[in-house]
Amino acid sequence: NWTMDDFIEMQVAEIQKEVGDKKVILGLSGGVDSSVTATLLHKAIGNQLTAIFVDHGMLRKDEGDQVMAALNRDLGVNIIRVNAQERFLSKLAGVTDPEKKRKIIGREFVEVFNEEAQKLKDVDFLAQGTLYTDVIESGTNTAQTIKSHHNVGGLPKDMHFKLIEPLRKLFKDEVRELGEKLGIPHDLVWRQPFPGPGLGIRVLGEITEDKLQIVRESDAILREEIKNAGLQEDIWQYFTVLTGIRSVGVMGDGRTYDYTVGVRAVTSIDGMTADFAQIPWPVLSKISTRIVDEVDHVNRVVYDITSKPPATIEWE
Ligand code: XMP
Repeated sequence: NWTMDDFIEMQVAEIQKEVGDKKVILGLSGGVDSSVTATLLHKAIGNQLTAIFVDHGMLRKDEGDQVMAALNRDLGVNIIRVNAQERFLSKLAGVTDPEKKRKIIGREFVEVFNEEAQKLKDVDFLAQGTLYTDVIESGTNTAQTIKSHHNVGGLPKDMHFKLIEPLRKLFKDEVRELGEKLGIPHDLVWRQPFPGPGLGIRVLGEITEDKLQIVRESDAILREEIKNAGLQEDIWQYFTVLTGIRSVGVMGDGRTYDYTVGVRAVTSIDGMTADFAQIPWPVLSKISTRIVDEVDHVNRVVYDITSKPPATIEWE
């Protein structure tokens, strides 16, 4: 029965032994698993690790900067940040189908990663933040195919790296505990689940920077108000979506014809089933007022009161 300190000590020794004086790369998505893997590897082998942070431009507000501040600036992890938003957006131009969007984002992620990886010389190892649950799911081959998830096993198959997966025996809550032990800030480590394609599947239909901006800003307001209300621990996921609906409103003396933002908040144990969260009316009211007041081109906010099933958590 080990403690997290024992785990760190054992893993560090094991990684050092395996890697020796060789180099390791890792694809950093900004999520918890790859962040913790990077930090653990950095503790073991320092600058022999290069993490490649592919910022696809569809992260939440300030998220990329927060990850860089916590891991690179404060913990010293060697990170190459690739700001690839334009590249992703141009590949996504005109694409409306959710599965196509996912595939394009997944493929592009791997491609950007490969290009950066090839610039580095003499790399022997590829580290991945695979968890125990990922191992089981890919082993039994029953992974849910309602939506294709690209965050597991999507990295270069044609490259001849040896794999390092130091989290493969851990569950998510253990990974979070490990992250905190390693000095990653509490808020980063305990973030709600966030999909690999990010805000790209929260802009319904075609993705543009203007639409991403609406989701990014409204989502930031929602998160702030959920935090102010002290509800962030009670809700599994909470986010906004930009529906394709535009409707009529009034503002001052004028008539508006603008977008509808959907607020989604659910309680869940594992994401497989979920109930819509019963957020108190006054909190919803504040969220709605702020979104309409502060986010351009939004004149209506609706609250999603469907559970999963029959709806899914994400709208795409
Ligand atoms: P759904 O929408 O299927 O979501 O009820 C269940 C959980 O999976 C997340 N999700 C994704 N995660 N890539 C991911 O890494 C994806 O394409 C993706 N789609 C959904 C969703 O946020 C929820 O936690």
